[in-house]
Amino acid sequence: MVSLKAALSSASVLVALFAPAALADNPINPSFPYGSTKVRGVNLGGWLVLEPWITPSLFENTGNTAIVDEWTFDQDQNRQTALSALQNHWNTWVTEQDFIDIAAAGLNHVRIPIGYWAFDVGPGEPYISGQLPYLQKAVGWARNHGLKVIVDLHGAPGSQNGFDNSGHRISFPQWHSNSTNIARTNAVLKTITSLFINDQDVVSVIAPLNEPAGFDGSDVLSAVRQYWYDSYGNIRFPYGTSQQSNTVVLLHDAFQPLSYWSGFQTAPNWQGVAMDTHIYQMFSQDEVSRSNQQHIDAACAYGSSLSSFDLWTIVGEWTPAATDCATYLNGRGVGARYDGSYAGSSRVGSCTGLTGSRSSFSSSYKTFLRQYWEAQTITYEKGAGWIQWTWKAERADDWSYQAGLAGGWIPQNPTQRQYPNICN
Ligand SMILES: *[C@@H]1O[C@H](CO)[C@@H](O)[C@H](O)[C@H]1NC(C)=O
Repeated sequence: MVSLKAALSSASVLVALFAPAALADNPINPSFPYGSTKVRGVNLGGWLVLEPWITPSLFENTGNTAIVDEWTFDQDQNRQTALSALQNHWNTWVTEQDFIDIAAAGLNHVRIPIGYWAFDVGPGEPYISGQLPYLQKAVGWARNHGLKVIVDLHGAPGSQNGFDNSGHRISFPQWHSNSTNIARTNAVLKTITSLFINDQDVVSVIAPLNEPAGFDGSDVLSAVRQYWYDSYGNIRFPYGTSQQSNTVVLLHDAFQPLSYWSGFQTAPNWQGVAMDTHIYQMFSQDEVSRSNQQHIDAACAYGSSLSSFDLWTIVGEWTPAATDCATYLNGRGVGARYDGSYAGSSRVGSCTGLTGSRSSFSSSYKTFLRQYWEAQTITYEKGAGWIQWTWKAERADDWSYQAGLAGGWIPQNPTQRQYPNICN
């Protein structure tokens, strides 16, 4: 006869053994062990979706200051000129060598933003498509070099946030309020899942929509919640049968605290869902005014919410940059809060030596970048991991993983730490 005490203790052993089952009791089998191995990666920003601050030369070369995003890039200049510039950019900004270098830096993921206009251009939309073959090439390069790909739908019809990085910089987003726009987005997502249905060994994650503007209110959030339900079906059931894919569904938090999403699409009714949160500290006066130590402390403070959330939580965008000094970061023709050139801001200091070429960076600044990078990666690994924004930028070495490797503030192996106790 088993004593009550022995029965209780074997029951707690069972609970301990099967505790991970609470997160995924009938789990899918993604091609990367999310939750046990940390995601470490970079975004390939500014490639298949243009961003003025990542490639300012593309925009300046147009000679037209009204060209501020991909919509106006395609609309406000000669179409053949725009197409040639885009093709040259797609062919050169990211090549297989980048995948070799990213893998050699000890990273395991790339997140690749792409806009809906690679798949569907509606009447009255000026967009030029042609990005898709490059995304497909990138999946092959990732496979060659052992990297996983997150395909990230970064721009939706009508714009989900009005940011230039959604393709169309507008004062208020038009995606959520227009059922045609949402239906088109669902169709694009279905196309994406079917295109990569046989590439689940590489495309381990699909992110159905980047940064919907939840801060614009409950209309946006209710559209987003319904879209996340539809996306789960589109990503998890791409075969038109009850057969499930092994592709992880990466939702974005829509700029809400993680607690807002507590219990949303959790096991056992939902499988293979992860949450993407973006952590930046330069898009308000309060944040650019922080001291170096305050930036580090604020990063470290995210640890408990990341480690306790009920889905795998990936910090899918973040940066060692601590200012908004990078040229055009707030938009082409818009200044920086840090140096007071942004309307209504109050100056914190000069941007000289804080962005641009690393040759202008002081050794004490590079030490701070290293500390802040380590504080963030240590903290974000309390969740499921991190993906830095971004791999490269023409004139903003503070944001560039590639420049950080060359300049020594990002280690050649991301687990090498000089300040392992920085958050203690
Ligand atoms: C909704 O969006 C579509 C494009 O997807 C556009 O053609 C249509 O005019 C929009 N409807 C409204 C009411 O704005």
